[in-house]
Amino acid sequence: MVSLDLSGINLRFDEEKKKLILIDQNVEKEYEPNLRKLKDMNELFFDSAISQDPDTILYYMFRNVFKKENEKAIAENKLRYDVTIIPPNTIGGEYIKTAGHYHPVAKDGLSFPEIYEVLSGEGLFMLQKESNFAGNKKIKAVFVLGKEGDLIFIPPNYGHITINVSKDTLCMANWVSSAFESVYGNIKEKKGGAFYILKRDPIGFKLEKNSNYDEFSKQSVFATPKKADFFGFPDKTPMYEFLKSPEKLSFLNDPTVCPDLDYD
Ligand SMILES: [Fe+2]
Repeated sequence: MVSLDLSGINLRFDEEKKKLILIDQNVEKEYEPNLRKLKDMNELFFDSAISQDPDTILYYMFRNVFKKENEKAIAENKLRYDVTIIPPNTIGGEYIKTAGHYHPVAKDGLSFPEIYEVLSGEGLFMLQKESNFAGNKKIKAVFVLGKEGDLIFIPPNYGHITINVSKDTLCMANWVSSAFESVYGNIKEKKGGAFYILKRDPIGFKLEKNSNYDEFSKQSVFATPKKADFFGFPDKTPMYEFLKSPEKLSFLNDPTVCPDLDYD
């Protein structure tokens, strides 16, 4: 059982039952996972000749987690709180990762942004977008290493992938608009994100460029995670509690009022 106390709600992951459990008003509510298995993502890994069992579970997604008292506010503000759990493992020498996706445009050419919170473990968040450099379109990659309690901001127009680069289970939550479906096609066509994150012995990781991307900007950006004050909340406020001031999350549906639009 993994306790997810940092969430600020009574949440835990039962590893044996493979369920997320929320205790709300003294009632135990069980969430069933959407599973991502190796066979769903085979073509997204660096090593295409994978010998591992295709039914290996890569990660668990629990959509729309909420306390009963917040159900109305979440619906009215078009929000969704999800939890994703990635056990530690490697596939052909590459750390386990989410499939990766982009979000569609919400307004004025800006796509829906998103916020993540690391509840347990450690994750590398790889963000990528096409940017103009001297008139040429190039891929800009941003890496943010998130530890427990860290917040990771996905600005508009960035696709994103999360990689579990540790020996522990990575548990993360996100607030995102409920008004869109993620777009998986672009990353699938390129057989993964801009970089593959390979295990380096005895510890750490190395970045391997994905040769299906033509042009990279010269430098990848290595950025630090955000704190609650970036979103207008006191330090260490659990991300679930951002819902107490839903107007501060309005940027999730209207990126023109985002706290920031990019990483430098
Ligand atoms: Fe997303």
